[in-house]
Amino acid sequence: MSQIVFDERTAQQLEVMYRKRDALRRRRLVREALAVEAGHRVLDVGCGPGFYSAELLAEVGAKGAVVGVDTSAAMLAAAARRCEGLGDAAFHEGNATSLPVEDRGFDRALCVQVLEYVADVPAALAELYRVLRPRGRALVWDVDWSTLSWHSADPERMQRMLRAWDRHLAHPALPRTLAAALRAAGFTEIRAEGHAFATTELDPETYGGMALQMVEHYLAGLDDIDREEAKAWAEEQRELGARGEYFSGVIQFCFTATRCG
Ligand SMILES: C[S@@+](CC[C@H](N)C(=O)[O-])C[C@H]1O[C@@H](n2cnc3c(N)ncnc32)[C@H](O)[C@@H]1O
Repeated sequence: MSQIVFDERTAQQLEVMYRKRDALRRRRLVREALAVEAGHRVLDVGCGPGFYSAELLAEVGAKGAVVGVDTSAAMLAAAARRCEGLGDAAFHEGNATSLPVEDRGFDRALCVQVLEYVADVPAALAELYRVLRPRGRALVWDVDWSTLSWHSADPERMQRMLRAWDRHLAHPALPRTLAAALRAAGFTEIRAEGHAFATTELDPETYGGMALQMVEHYLAGLDDIDREEAKAWAEEQRELGARGEYFSGVIQFCFTATRCG
């Protein structure tokens, strides 16, 4: 196991990634599903560099508020900078499994691509339930990395690279069990929607195009991988890109759920 570290360097990478076309599309989908209203109090769990928090401040307006929580000081600093002067925003260091906020204080809570990194998902879902008001809505978005379809003329080598990449997080296929876990946490009206993100070009505006650099960098940091094989794998992907034969696609899942009582 060599889980990704959300430090200053990762914060800088996300600053760039989250301005790209696919990231904008994902935020649009999240905002539609979250259906925030003016005056709402919104909790952004694992807020990262605060792109959602900033956009949601505009939606909640002057009478609403956004609170962001993250384990990473670097992410929180970026989020606070981004949201300065945009409205009633507060950011706290804290873990998704023990949120530093009051019971029943929020109309909406979102947790976008965070729980796949959290070992104790039931504890995090129990916290989402605790902090929502009755009839409040939670939104949980995660990637099912087992749906990643990535073309290579050497599929066995590709499989070895992807198995190694699976170690960057706690749960490579979390969406498969999320509906049952949300139900067990007490939520009702659980809905799941899968969104495919695909590209036929090595285009940095797409998740698939950005994935090559991310995975290549991660693999280079592992002690127990064949470095030459990893280099050859990345080189093949660049060649496929140059020849117009690149293909990568993955399904990301958006779950919404309601706190009943
Ligand atoms: C992939 S980023 C997503 C950021 C943000 N939700 C977004 O989509 O723009 C994952 C974030 O989750 C945070 N994180 C990871 N484990 C966490 C935990 N146990 N509790 C709170 N935040 C966590 C990381 O520090 C990082 O900022």
